[in-house]
Amino acid sequence: MSNICVVGTGYVGLVTGVCFADLGNQVFCLDVNPDRVEKLSQGIMPIYEPGLNEIVLRNVNAGRLRFTMSYDEALEDAEFAFIAVGTPSGADGEADLQYVRSAAEGIADAIDHPIIIINKSTVPVGTGDWVTEVVSKRRAGKPLDFKVVSNPEFLREGSAINDFMVPDRVVLGSTDQEAAKSVAHLYLSLRCPVVITDLRTAEMIKYASNAFLATRISFINEIANICEELGADVEQVAVGMGLDKRIGSAFLNAGIGWGGSCFPKDVKALAHMAVLHGTHPQLLQAVMEINRNQRRQVVYRLRKVLKSLSDKTIAILGLSFKPNTDDIREAPSLEIIHLLQNEGAIVRCYDPQAIDNARQVFSEEYQKKSVVLCSSAIEAVSGADALVLTTEWNEFKNLDFEQVKSAMRSPVIVDGRNLWNPEVMQKNGFIYYSIGRGNYNQQAQTGENGQ
Ligand code: NAD
Ligand code: UGA
Repeated sequence: MSNICVVGTGYVGLVTGVCFADLGNQVFCLDVNPDRVEKLSQGIMPIYEPGLNEIVLRNVNAGRLRFTMSYDEALEDAEFAFIAVGTPSGADGEADLQYVRSAAEGIADAIDHPIIIINKSTVPVGTGDWVTEVVSKRRAGKPLDFKVVSNPEFLREGSAINDFMVPDRVVLGSTDQEAAKSVAHLYLSLRCPVVITDLRTAEMIKYASNAFLATRISFINEIANICEELGADVEQVAVGMGLDKRIGSAFLNAGIGWGGSCFPKDVKALAHMAVLHGTHPQLLQAVMEINRNQRRQVVYRLRKVLKSLSDKTIAILGLSFKPNTDDIREAPSLEIIHLLQNEGAIVRCYDPQAIDNARQVFSEEYQKKSVVLCSSAIEAVSGADALVLTTEWNEFKNLDFEQVKSAMRSPVIVDGRNLWNPEVMQKNGFIYYSIGRGNYNQQAQTGENGQ
């Protein structure tokens, strides 16, 4: 059993804290957001993440998990302090380290015993050394016995607890191998491979992993666009490619591209680091450009079918950047909605979990009535000239399509996640487009859709 403090109770910090508590450790989760800490102390989750509520309650009740805003309280007995605060994009695409700095300073100010500080936030290469400097400077008159370890996190929102508890690997980087091994010990019961490197290599493993996954998605989206023109089916292409063990099938789902709080900012930050150090990240630039283009494709398609989008009503199903989360940061849906608004369309949206977050983003548009937030899929499609599926939530898989069709003004669907079966949709009388399923899209265009 160890005493652990986790700084930041967002998607990563909260999951890290509760999972370490569930593994039998004493954990303090610390945040500067009073509303968040207050809610957590009352057992109310500040984010939607499947399974989180139960595991938090179990560990609070067992006395292993506590929430606080006080660095002094959280660090009093801590042997390990994880930094899991946000690292959003700065003005030029660089990672903004202001929250990491204030977390490091908060830790430096609060303790007087040996401690291992662990960077779990995704931070630019060199940040581990910088945190060492920040803490040392802060404690110039009263030196502190501390070590810094980089421990990047690879969990995905929507499956965060399982990803934490059953990781493919744990990466640890440090200039002090003993410190890295002490952190490795915390993960021992997970029985997964542990990769121990120097600080900078561990930091780069995180960026390279996210950039590679984003590259796979942009690659399959580029193939999808070629399939579209040549009458091939990208889904079957992905199956055929994925069976090759050297390629694998993960992250080859074509669609409207990658969003979320990490891929967009991390690919940008890696490209920024590269340029700053005199290299030319041409592949990363192309990966980002392809991704931007995927969202625009939806609007081009709608414009082609509906002629003008001015005063047309478009239903958007799904606001979160992926299913099983309420996170709308950099969600493809938001960009598509803005593009549609620029064309004068009225947008009616529905999402099973992200409506509250969307209400904050769209407060002004909402008042102007150009964005209408609905409480069901059927309400969203009512009177719509077209439906765009932006997030593949389970509840959209088996909609009552007869009801959908009769609620809509015209039966046009753009399926941005290839969720539905083209043949079934065409049999149901929809003019149905999806991504990179050129054989079916060409039929939709020429009207051979069984209507
Ligand atoms: P988040 O925005 O959900 O949460 C960050 C939390 O840190 C907030 O609650 C904020 O109030 C708190 N905070 C900010 N400054 C603080 C301070 N000085 N002291 C205490 N608390 C402070 O962020 P997130 O999505 O959990 O991401 C955190 C980091 O983990 C980022 O670097 C991100 O790139 C990385 N990451 C995220 C994911 C993910 O799925 N979200 C996965 C892997 C890695
Ligand atoms: C991603 C990584 O998968 C995690 O390993 C990493 O820890 C995390 O970023 C992070 O650093 O924050 P996450 O953003 O939660 O996790 O979700 P993903 O499942 O990776 O999806 C990201 C985006 O790619 C979503 O918009 C999703 O719709 C899209 N995607 C994913 C596709 O378009 N096609 C695919 O085949 C897979």
